[in-house]
Amino acid sequence: MTLNLAILISGGGSNLQSIIDKIESGALDARIKTVISNKPGVGGLARAAKHNIPHQVLDHKNFADRASYDQALAEAIHRAGADTVVLAGFMRILGPGFIKAFPGRVVNIHPALLPSFAGGHGQRDAADYGVKLSGCTVHFADEIMDHGPIIIQAAVPAQPGESGEALGARILTQEHRCYPQALQWLAQGRLRIEGRHVHLDGPAGPLAEIADAALINPPLEKGF
Ligand code: GRF
Repeated sequence: MTLNLAILISGGGSNLQSIIDKIESGALDARIKTVISNKPGVGGLARAAKHNIPHQVLDHKNFADRASYDQALAEAIHRAGADTVVLAGFMRILGPGFIKAFPGRVVNIHPALLPSFAGGHGQRDAADYGVKLSGCTVHFADEIMDHGPIIIQAAVPAQPGESGEALGARILTQEHRCYPQALQWLAQGRLRIEGRHVHLDGPAGPLAEIADAALINPPLEKGF
């Protein structure tokens, strides 16, 4: 069923763009009812304008507390006629009241392999820690930040000494693939949540196909 999206942003909106592109190409069965930014003047708003997508600024600074902001946000989303909330670089924590207003219909993307490196600096934190693999995670949002059931993850190799920006740029490329795919599965009604597990119903490859797959970094040498 066609998704009616509210896409929430705080910045450049490259994930927003990847969703726009997949809708326009016909791969993603969705329409964007509104783009909402909590910050004025950000690049994502210009992207929405360029594609004639309704967009608005709801600045958190104009609200006395989190609860009143969350309520105004939920009202704006309902008013726009959206049924699914897509957090795409939205740098605000949403309270339990907001999550409860859209049960099972809030999704988020995080630039690390959750549950590692939750929080606002996933790329930098992973790079500084010296991991060999990081990546991105698309998940259903719940009351705890960067915590809900995971829909899809992509692993990205990290290099010793590289900056969070360099690693983050490679992660972002995979974000742009994973987020529209996760939303298309949602549109197709193929995502079934059971506790912490998200099952992908339908013609996914059998587990045997991935049993031997692994992303190992640095790569193994001949003979291992
Ligand atoms: C992405 O890395 C996303 O994972 C994180 O914030 C960044 C947003 O980038 N939550 P953009 O605004 O979509 O370009």
